[in-house]
Amino acid sequence: MALREIRLEGDEILRKRSREVEVIDDKIKELIKDMDETMHSANGVGLSAVQVGVLKRIIVIDVNYDGTPSIILINPEIVKTKGKEEYQEGCLSFPNKFAKVIRPSEVTVKGLNENGKPITVKGKDLLAEALCHEIDHLDGKLFVDIMEPGTLEYIEKEEEKN
Ligand code: NI
Repeated sequence: MALREIRLEGDEILRKRSREVEVIDDKIKELIKDMDETMHSANGVGLSAVQVGVLKRIIVIDVNYDGTPSIILINPEIVKTKGKEEYQEGCLSFPNKFAKVIRPSEVTVKGLNENGKPITVKGKDLLAEALCHEIDHLDGKLFVDIMEPGTLEYIEKEEEKN
């Protein structure tokens, strides 16, 4: 496993559409492990492959940080949404930047796990937000595109000042 470099705001790759994964080979499995490690090392709740420079439709999510395995989704698709909720949202590609975004309060997503098995993930609140945010990345869409106007804030976290 290895940490990968997170692509930041302004990097053209973040605007590109990621391609479907057709074969889950060792390279893809290694990418997924690296993504998971990179996300945790950056204290993020989600990461898409494009954010580490790979245009493949893969996302990893961990909203719990309780040691349970991350959610891994290959070729994810939102199949159902319910409700609306306002979230204070950030992104590992936009360090210290946050904005208010309105997204569904519940979503159902279908995709494949890292073994190629079809899975369905249902998420509420923060998990719903993370699923929508990461799936948007796969189409080159960023939270700043859909944020509520005038809500972008720069918040430096305490631990980074020390
Ligand atoms: Ni993001």
